[in-house]
Amino acid sequence: MIFMPADLDLPEESLCPDEPNTEEYNQVDPCTLDCFPDHSYPVDLYRWRESAGTLSPIYRCGAEVHTRLRGTLYALSEAGKLFFSRNQIRAYTECLSRNLDAALDDPNLTWNEKSHVLIESLGQRQQAMFQQPMPQELDNLDRIVETLCLYLIEDSTRMRRVVHHVHCTPLAARQRLNAALMALAIFLECEGEPVPLERMHPVGLGFFLFDIGMSRVSRMLSDKKSMQLVPSEQRRVQEHPLAGFEIAGRLNLVNPEIVEPIIQHHERLNGTGYPNRLRDRQIGKLGRIAGVADSYVAMITDRPHCPARPPLHAAAEILKQDKVYDQSVARKLVRLLNAVPSVAS
Ligand SMILES: [Fe+2]
Repeated sequence: MIFMPADLDLPEESLCPDEPNTEEYNQVDPCTLDCFPDHSYPVDLYRWRESAGTLSPIYRCGAEVHTRLRGTLYALSEAGKLFFSRNQIRAYTECLSRNLDAALDDPNLTWNEKSHVLIESLGQRQQAMFQQPMPQELDNLDRIVETLCLYLIEDSTRMRRVVHHVHCTPLAARQRLNAALMALAIFLECEGEPVPLERMHPVGLGFFLFDIGMSRVSRMLSDKKSMQLVPSEQRRVQEHPLAGFEIAGRLNLVNPEIVEPIIQHHERLNGTGYPNRLRDRQIGKLGRIAGVADSYVAMITDRPHCPARPPLHAAAEILKQDKVYDQSVARKLVRLLNAVPSVAS
C-alpha cells in the first residue's frame, strides 16, 4: 500500500473530484469525523502503523460505528494517524458539504475538492429554498452565496474551477444550480475587474433565485416540452417570473439586483420573451445575463426530449441569435469557455 500526501496544487485538468487515483490517501481531520453520520461512515478508513511504516484497514464503509470504535477513530484522527483513500473522495466531500466551514478549513482537501464541496452545499441550499421558499431557507442560501462570493474574491481564478465543475456535471437535476453558477461567471467576465462583496453578493443571490417562480409550477408541467403544453399550461409556465417576483416581495427582496434576473430572465431583445414582452434596453444587464446563462445551460444539459450539445456549439448558437440574446454577453460567455481548458478542448 503506497501512501502519498495530497497535492495541494492540482492542475486544472484534474479537477473532477471523483477521478480514481489508486495510490493516494489523505489524513482525516477530527472535524471531518464530526460531519459523518453517527452510526455509519461513508468511506473506508485506514490507520497508520508506525512500526510497519504502512497503512492498514481499520473500518469498512457502511459498517456500524459503535461507541468504542468511534473513540478509537477519533483518537487516531487527532494523532494524525487516520486516513481515507482518495478513490472515495466523492463520498467524503458529499458528507463534508453538510458542514461547509469544516470543509473549507480542512487542510487535507485540495482547492479543487473544496470547490466541489462548496458547489454541493450551494446545490443543497438552493434546492431547499426552491422546495420551501421561506425566510429560514433564504437565510441559509444567502449565507452560502456570501461564502461563494468571498471564495471567488479571494482568488479570481477560482471562477474557472467553478465553470469546470458545471461542465463536469451537466445533469438535468443540476440545471438550476449550473445556470446560477454560469450567470455569476458571465457577470464577473462582463465586469472585467474585481467586484466588491457588497455588489457581488446581491447579484449572486439574484442569480441563485432567478427561477424561484418555478417552485409554483408543478413538476408535471415543468418537465413537459413547451410544444406539448396546452395554452392554459403554457400560460401558467410563462407566469413563473411573475410568481418569482411575488415570492421575492413576500421575502422583502426588493433590491433591483435580485429582482431583475427573477422578472426578466425570459425576456428577449426582439420582444419575443415573457412575461412582459420587453425589448432591447428595457431589459437590464442582469436580466440579459441570466437569460443567456439559463439558455446556455439548458442546451448543454442532457434532457429526455433534447440531447445535450457540446459547450462551444451551444455558445455559438446563442451568439448566432443576435436578435434574441445580448451579443456582448454572448461573447463574454465564449471568452469564459475558452479560458477553461477542459471545456474548450
Ligand atoms: Fe425560468
